[in-house]
Amino acid sequence: MRIILLGAPGAGKGTQAQFLMGKFGIPQISTGDMLRAAIKAGTELGLAAKKVMDEGKLVSDELIIGLVKERIAQPDCAKGFLLDGFPRTIPQADAMKENGIRVDHVIEFDVPDDVIVERMGGRRVHPASGRVYHVQYNPPKVEGKDDQTGEDLVIRDDDKEETVRKRLAIYHEQTKPLVDYYRNEAGQGNCQYHKVDGTQPVEKVSQELASLLA
Ligand code: AP5
Ligand code: ZN
Repeated sequence: MRIILLGAPGAGKGTQAQFLMGKFGIPQISTGDMLRAAIKAGTELGLAAKKVMDEGKLVSDELIIGLVKERIAQPDCAKGFLLDGFPRTIPQADAMKENGIRVDHVIEFDVPDDVIVERMGGRRVHPASGRVYHVQYNPPKVEGKDDQTGEDLVIRDDDKEETVRKRLAIYHEQTKPLVDYYRNEAGQGNCQYHKVDGTQPVEKVSQELASLLA
C-alpha cells in the first residue's frame, strides 16, 4: 500500500505514520526526519538544509526529489510506503508522476491553524525513531523519555511559535494546492482521496484511518 499523508505542520502526520507503519508493516518516509538526520550527521545535505529549516522555509525541490527517489528504490519500499511531508509542492508531485511513482491513497489531515500553534508548543520528539509525543495530548510514560528506549526527548529547533507561523504560511501558499491536485487525480481514478478531521484525539484519528484503509 502506498500512502501520502498530507497536512499542515503539526497536523499529526508523524503521529499517525507510527500507527500505520505498525498496522500495515510499511516504512515511513519522512523527508523532515531524513533532513534532521542529515543535519545531525553533518553531511553536505544537512549543512544546506539547516538554515532553511530553522527559518521555516522549504528545502529546494531538486534536493528533496533526489532524496525521496533514492529512498523509494530501497528494497523495504517494495511492498509500499508512507510518505510523510512529501510531496509538498506541485513540482514535487509532478516529479513523482514523471518518475512513475503511483500512490493508492492520499490522506488529508484537516486541522485549523490556531490548534496547530497550540500543539507545537507541547511537542517532544525522539529523533532516532521519529516517535512523537505531546506533553498533554500524547504524553510519554516517563516524562521527557521515549517509551521504547528510555532515551531523552527533545524539542525541535523549528517549533518556536514565530517559526511555526512561518511554516503555516508556507503550507497555505505552497502545499495546500496539492489538495486540489490530488482530488483531481482521484477524480481521474489514479488514487483515492480521504479527508480526516485531525482535531479528534489521536486514537480516534487512528481508528478512522484504519477503517478508511481496511
Ligand atoms: P517536517 O518534519 O515534515 O515537518 P512538518 O510537515 O512541518 O510537519 P510536522 O512534523 O511539524 O508535523 P506532523 O504533521 O508530523 O505532526 P506530529 O505528528 O508531529 O518538515 C520540517 C522541515 O523540513 C520543513 O519546514 C522544510 O524546511 C523541510 N522539508 C521537509 N520535507 C520537505 C519537502 N518535501 N520539501 C521541502 N522541504 C521539506 O504532531 C504534532 C504535535 O501534535 C505532537 O506533539 C503530537 O503529539 C500532537 N498531536 C498529533 N496528533 C494529535 C491529535 N490528534 N490531537 C492532539 N495532539 C496531537
Ligand atoms: Zn512530522
